[in-house]
Amino acid sequence: MSFPPQNQNLLSARISVRYAGKPPVLRDVQFEIQQGEVLGLVGQSGSGKSTLAMSILGLLDKKHTHTEGSIRLQDSELLQLSERELRALRGRAVALVLQSPLSALNPALRIRTQLREAWRAHACGTDADCANVIRASLQSVSLPGNEEFLRKYPAQMSVGQAQRVLIAMAVMHRPALLIADEATSALDVITQAEILALFRELNRSTGMAILYISHDLASVAGICDRIAILHQGEIVECGSTEQIFAHPKHEYTQRLMAALPQILPTSARPQTKTEAAAAR
Ligand SMILES: Nc1ncnc2c1ncn2[C@@H]1O[C@H](COP(=O)(O)OP(=O)(O)O)[C@@H](O)[C@H]1O
Ligand SMILES: [Mg+2]
Repeated sequence: MSFPPQNQNLLSARISVRYAGKPPVLRDVQFEIQQGEVLGLVGQSGSGKSTLAMSILGLLDKKHTHTEGSIRLQDSELLQLSERELRALRGRAVALVLQSPLSALNPALRIRTQLREAWRAHACGTDADCANVIRASLQSVSLPGNEEFLRKYPAQMSVGQAQRVLIAMAVMHRPALLIADEATSALDVITQAEILALFRELNRSTGMAILYISHDLASVAGICDRIAILHQGEIVECGSTEQIFAHPKHEYTQRLMAALPQILPTSARPQTKTEAAAAR
């Protein structure tokens, strides 16, 4: 399989966002996501991370939000798209995985029904085509595609399995960009590590770029090529994962680094993506 070359901007953004009657939440935030890269967006709760994710997906309520600037994805200016065009883009070119998998799934519908609906939202074809895509996407997230599994309801799965189902739905249409907004934050540490490894593997095997959003600097180390630090609505620092961890420049990044748990010896600090690749 051939992937688009790296170091080519998939997305370029420069935006300011304000909710009605409130001070700006994002102030002239500028960043790029290159084809196939994993960009981490780290900042504490309330710093504007989800607002930034929603603005890329065109999910901010236009009546109560004022957005200025530009978000270019490939050849499209996302801020100029109509609601119809945005609907065609969401789930196909850009997909989203959120924090609480069990609340993102419909409790009343079997997994197969929900996967079928996700497929039909952007594809047409026979039931056999649909079944093939569902089987392949479940396989890509290491879930069984058998009848017993497909007949399950969300409550019959673990939270880790539910997150895998949502990731299967998100990658089904081969998006160029996956936005993971605190996608591992509600998971126990072991499941969190497994889901992070899954994101890393999907990035490697499909070339899909990921915007990996988290309040937790440590959790992004092993998956991100670059990290942008968001503080009070501004990107205060952006650099390679190695640079951010080894030489944090901004005072706020230094504070985040100092707040990381110090119980690990230096040799056991989180492995960066480059180190993980070298160890393979
Ligand atoms: N729909 C909304 N209406 C008004 N204010 C909002 C809305 N959504 C978020 N905010 C405010 O915007 C700021 C950033 O929120 P958010 O983007 O959710 O941050 P994060 O994801 O980093 O926790 C917060 O002060 C929050 O209260
Ligand atoms: Mg958030």
